[in-house]
Amino acid sequence: MQPPIIAQIKGQPSAHRPIWFMRQAGRSLPEYRDLRANIPMLDSCLNPEVAAEITCQPVRRHKVDAAVFFSDIMVPLKLAGIDVHIEPGVGPVLDKPILTMADVSALETHHLEGEEVITQGVQLVTEELGRPDGTAPYTPVIGFAGAPFTLAAYMVEGRPSRDHLAARTMMYADPVAWHALLDWCARISADFVRAQIAGGASIIQLFDSWAGSLGQANYVAHVVDHSATVLQAAHEAGVPTIHFGTGTNEFLPEMRDAGADVVGVDHRIALDEADRRLGHTVTLQGNIDPALLAAPWEVLEQHIREVLDAGSKAPGHIVNLAHGVPPTTDPDVLTRIVEFVHEVTTDEHTN
Ligand code: CP3
Repeated sequence: MQPPIIAQIKGQPSAHRPIWFMRQAGRSLPEYRDLRANIPMLDSCLNPEVAAEITCQPVRRHKVDAAVFFSDIMVPLKLAGIDVHIEPGVGPVLDKPILTMADVSALETHHLEGEEVITQGVQLVTEELGRPDGTAPYTPVIGFAGAPFTLAAYMVEGRPSRDHLAARTMMYADPVAWHALLDWCARISADFVRAQIAGGASIIQLFDSWAGSLGQANYVAHVVDHSATVLQAAHEAGVPTIHFGTGTNEFLPEMRDAGADVVGVDHRIALDEADRRLGHTVTLQGNIDPALLAAPWEVLEQHIREVLDAGSKAPGHIVNLAHGVPPTTDPDVLTRIVEFVHEVTTDEHTN
């Protein structure tokens, strides 16, 4: 029996609409906070037992239809020997931002190393959740990577930024350095993807969280080919892909054409509108507004019904949030959403 999420990726009917949450493993869970109490973020990602345990926590608790491997888009940079750390309350910080062609050239000597810890971590997860070996039911593990633009934005800015001014300056002012940088980012993200697939990840999601600071024309001219490189690495290993961005609703077809089997949609448009823009060609993922997780249940329930209704117009639908779980979320609300979605979509066969 193929899992519901695999069926929906192929546009086939499933026993219920599959659901998982971006950032489901993490700070909203008390069992996560207990485990992480004395372990810095990136250290926890590089410890296979810790990463595997954190990955399984939300699957046990919420009964979601997929696990997402606990790691971070910056982990491959760390494995490539780049001086990156996660500053609590701030986010990823690089001591030496990448500003010039010389900085980019210096990256060429950096390759992913020690990625066995990632492979082992995913492997441990599949020991608990099962593997696609043909007969027994299993819960798929989603592996992921940061898209080259989003990674490059952190590398050029050196820290989180609202408008990615420095990154966009390099994009216009030094296109040679820019393409060399994105090429390097694509290579290490692709290696990170392959390491997770080697451990048993059966779906890959590419996160382009900050691509929305670009317009369609610049995305096409300066970014999309590099994203395609990472998605292609998954396809070459026979693994389907989800391509997610925020603020990217003006270039959903380009995100699909980069090589996506599923397109992730943020909260800014309804899924039936996304389906229209995509010409009814591809499975969609999304898009419960994370802001409503803190609203009264009746308000949230009405919103979920609308998301399910709009999603049923697409060739396939994986229910998710429109972006990650906010750290302050009451985990019981997430469990209730999973129960509700499973209950109201059981045997619907309308997709
Ligand atoms: O719950 C948690 O957030 C705890 C662990 C944590 C992660 N990353 C896990 C993660 C922490 C503290 C980070 C640091 C980090 N990395 C931040 C700051 C987060 C904060 O609010 O303090 C940021 C912005 C990054 C960079 C990053 N990582 C981006 C842009 C993305 C893409 C997704 C997004 O939210 O836009 C990630 C992926 C990421 N970080 C995942 C996890 C578990 C991916 C898988 C998933 O969705 O669970």
